[in-house]
Amino acid sequence: MTDLSGEVCFITGAGRGIGKDTAKYLASCGAEVAVTDRDGASAKAVAEEICAEGGHAIGLTCDVSSTTSVDAAVQACVAKFGALTLCNHNAAWTSFSHDTNAEAIDLAMWDRVINTNATGGLRLTQAVLPHFRRSGRGSLVFITSGSAAIGENARVAYGASKAALEQLMRHVAATYGRENIRCNAVAPGMILTDTAALAISEASLAQLAEENPLRRLGTGEDIAKVVAFLLSTDAAYVNGQVLRVDGGLMIAPRLGPKAGRASEEPN
Ligand SMILES: NC(=O)c1ccc[n+]([C@@H]2O[C@H](COP(=O)([O-])OP(=O)(O)OC[C@H]3O[C@@H](n4cnc5c(N)ncnc54)[C@H](O)[C@@H]3O)[C@@H](O)[C@H]2O)c1
Repeated sequence: MTDLSGEVCFITGAGRGIGKDTAKYLASCGAEVAVTDRDGASAKAVAEEICAEGGHAIGLTCDVSSTTSVDAAVQACVAKFGALTLCNHNAAWTSFSHDTNAEAIDLAMWDRVINTNATGGLRLTQAVLPHFRRSGRGSLVFITSGSAAIGENARVAYGASKAALEQLMRHVAATYGRENIRCNAVAPGMILTDTAALAISEASLAQLAEENPLRRLGTGEDIAKVVAFLLSTDAAYVNGQVLRVDGGLMIAPRLGPKAGRASEEPN
């Protein structure tokens, strides 16, 4: 198991789904974890679960679309744990009915998706860098998506936001590496979260699993383990990379994502 003892990690969008599984996994690796979400109650519930299992966590409200909210949550994390050395930007938002194609999307919808997913990553980077410097080290992992690298014919803003996040990741990796600060991205494939299980029919889920080279959908823990690795010193010489955790979906052309497939698919 990855050793994260002595590390303090700030994670966004961790009230449910992949973020929740990642927060719990990071805590089980020994990190002190600031579990944050726009929905503060869900973040607090996850932190309580971690503490009940013997880990160390605090639950905080953090809306990544607001600079004030991000700054306040990062300050609260440092006030609680005395430092901040790791960060995982996992929060993301889109609308399946309104984040459509280039002609139809409303500009306000475009702005909201970009502001949450991509600008949220920048806000977080700006907030954590001073604390990484103070600690003499830091590691950031952005959660992106296969959508960053393909031309889907739906979710134009979502794909653009994740591509922007990957480019921000390369910038941070190249610029701050000399200060012992690394930045990488994890691009999940189709991950079966509780939300996805409720939103997608069993037949569609079975079809999606059948299309994957590994013949199954991913789990939150599949992502969490790779995030933990990239955050840790086991990945000390990994910087500026996008690691696809998708069962091989993107490299299997005949099986890969079909442009504009199911509007019911989650992120
Ligand atoms: N589930 C998948 O199949 C899949 C595939 C590719 C990429 N991803 C990416 O993985 C990450 C997690 O996905 P998920 O499926 O667990 O999502 P989810 O929708 O289940 O959870 C997202 C969490 O982010 C929070 N959130 C939304 N807007 C926020 C904001 N402005 N500030 C703070 N928190 C906010 C939500 O409250 C929620 O708790 C996302 O970045 C997503 O784009 C997921």
